[in-house]
Amino acid sequence: MIKPHGTGELRPLFVRDEGKRQTLLEEAETLPQLLLNSAAAANAVMLGAGYFSPLPGYMNAADALSVAQEMHTADGLFWPVPCLNMCADSSVTGRAERIALLDPNVAGRPVIAIQDVTSIETLSDDQMTLITEKVFGTTDRNHPGVATFTEAGSRLVAGPIRVLNYSYFEQDFPATFRTAMQIRAGIADNGWESVVAFQTRNPMHRAHEELCKMAREALGADGVLIHMLLGKLKPGDIPADVRDAAIRKMVELYFPENTVMVTGYGFDMLYAGPREAVLHAVFRQNAGCSHLIVGRDHAGVGSYYGPFDAQAIFREQVPEGALEIKIFEADHTAYSKKLNRVVMMRDAPDHDMEDFVLLSGTKVREMLAAGQLLPEEFARPEVARILMEHYQDAN
Ligand code: ADX
Repeated sequence: MIKPHGTGELRPLFVRDEGKRQTLLEEAETLPQLLLNSAAAANAVMLGAGYFSPLPGYMNAADALSVAQEMHTADGLFWPVPCLNMCADSSVTGRAERIALLDPNVAGRPVIAIQDVTSIETLSDDQMTLITEKVFGTTDRNHPGVATFTEAGSRLVAGPIRVLNYSYFEQDFPATFRTAMQIRAGIADNGWESVVAFQTRNPMHRAHEELCKMAREALGADGVLIHMLLGKLKPGDIPADVRDAAIRKMVELYFPENTVMVTGYGFDMLYAGPREAVLHAVFRQNAGCSHLIVGRDHAGVGSYYGPFDAQAIFREQVPEGALEIKIFEADHTAYSKKLNRVVMMRDAPDHDMEDFVLLSGTKVREMLAAGQLLPEEFARPEVARILMEHYQDAN
């Protein structure tokens, strides 16, 4: 199986030993307690679950700036997006060398991790702007990722952490939330060598289903890992439990048995387009995947990124050998009325746009909210029905 990123061994920060975890939880009661923001809590989950291996914890300003500008830490580890614990006010920590980190996303705000504080620094406005510009490609506060980043405050609490639980993800998504270690074990159990990962934050329609099938076939891969984001999204995106149900229905009915693993990871969406695509590749390598599908407007939002910028970054900015995982570049995919099947547009050069069944996200939402099923060329009826129930309940 493909080696984890960086060191060649997976270094999850979750404390596996129950006794040690209890001792740390007791110690946490005696430590200053810092309430994390959701992004920092999600980073803790990803660090705990091995996805962000081999990072030891939250980055300091030097690493954050180096990662933003050069895509590597100060000591040379390739990494595309700063992993930060940011806050507006860190005074509760005083001069403590160890602090307990509280989870903002679980009732009662339990301790999620313990941090050894190695530095607390304040980013200047210029540094905040630089990181924002490099990571998101824009400083426009209407961009949901930029808004979250900017509102997080400019104090960086850096240092290694030990993670004590996986926030709400295990409880809310017991069948779907999986750590990188669990996915590696699942891949090994299936006897798979090559695995193509499909990142998603949306329900999967015909185009997505076929993308997975086309990639598996073209690569001769043993299996597909559908790996959905289970964390926070912008308002209007479809909740994870609904997506999960829709995706499971699609896999059950339309994929050959034992060719797909349906799983999810606990991270908030950044909407950082190309940089997030590279982060996606890093953590799919850690989860044991040989390939990642990167299609049209991967991890994008609005019109901040060109439709294939998230593919170009791998060719133009990721140094040779920085990652072992390979990218499967997918062209815009849609149902062809001429060929009566889903195709990548590059494989149908004689087609005009009118030859494809294309529906905007807004149109899809309007139809489902009005109780109309989507065209079968666009969505599987069983999938559309699950989505329709969601929209009708929501209205
Ligand atoms: S994402 O934010 O997680 O990228 P989404 O779940 O919509 O959003 O997309 C998942 C993956 O499918 C991404 O790689 C994206 O580029 C790709 N994709 C989605 N729709 C299409 C399409 N019609 N044609 C080609 N690729 C697509």
